[in-house]
Amino acid sequence: MKQFLSVKDTSDPADLVRLARDLKKDPFQFENLGKRKTIGLIFLNPSLRTRMSMIKAAQLVGLNVIAFNLNQEGWKIETEDGVIMDGDNAEHINEAIPVISSYCDLLAIRSFPTLTDREYDYSEALLIKIQRLSSVPVINMESATVHPLQSLTDLVTIDELKKVERPKIVLSWAPHPRSLPQSVANSFLEWTLSHGHDITVVQPKGLELAKEFTGNAAVSYNQKEALSEADFVYVKNWSSYNEYGSIYRDPEWIISREKMRVTNEAKLMHCLPVRRNVVISEEILESPQSVVVQQAGNRVCAAQAVLVSLLKENG
Ligand code: CP
Repeated sequence: MKQFLSVKDTSDPADLVRLARDLKKDPFQFENLGKRKTIGLIFLNPSLRTRMSMIKAAQLVGLNVIAFNLNQEGWKIETEDGVIMDGDNAEHINEAIPVISSYCDLLAIRSFPTLTDREYDYSEALLIKIQRLSSVPVINMESATVHPLQSLTDLVTIDELKKVERPKIVLSWAPHPRSLPQSVANSFLEWTLSHGHDITVVQPKGLELAKEFTGNAAVSYNQKEALSEADFVYVKNWSSYNEYGSIYRDPEWIISREKMRVTNEAKLMHCLPVRRNVVISEEILESPQSVVVQQAGNRVCAAQAVLVSLLKENG
């Protein structure tokens, strides 16, 4: 693997899932692979899980880590070309990324979408620009449209918990007071479909995701019907793709214990952070059906699998 921007960079996602599960059992098997090398973790947006799991995974393979909140700890960054920089932004990305990558052997970046300019976000212009400016392989820690480290984690979690070869997986939209990216949902569909999973996405009318991500997933607008006999229920809010970035408010779409009764005692998944009693009821979130903490724990072995693959191929 030369870089890790999306599922398209992996020749076989199932291989990465197997490697992650193997690393979970034996985390120190590549403890010297990254020796004397450095990874830069650059955040343009907040993070708990991605930041900590990447640091832990990097340490497990012997890498030195520099984690940096670019806009808070450094100079404010300008990303557009051709601008007159007489405002708050003191540093241009055209210098910042070459400089940062000159200190590193791998560069990981988090940069959320604008949620105002769909064409710009869905072109992944910023991620592509960073990849072009970087002198070392780039890892996507959530970009405008995808969150591949999360999705690899999700596949690992499904793989270790599934009771049948091809479980029924439902991705359900749920309410949220803020305008959130579509990236986790997009990526989850992309990865589960690439894995040949049985996946249904259910959302209110108007909240359909981009067709390039829904692919041949089953699409439903009836939450109760979709949840019936599900083995895994992945809950996530996303803002509108059609009326780009707009928020839809319908508290009826919350995932509750009552709604989970029609499932096949489904495992409840969410990428976290989650607003309890808004997205998911506290009662079901704290029940044995909820695997959100196990899922978040798997962020380490998933990140480690990506680091091992990149280090092996990029010497
Ligand atoms: N799921 C996830 O990416 O969590 P953070 O935003 O806390 O990194």
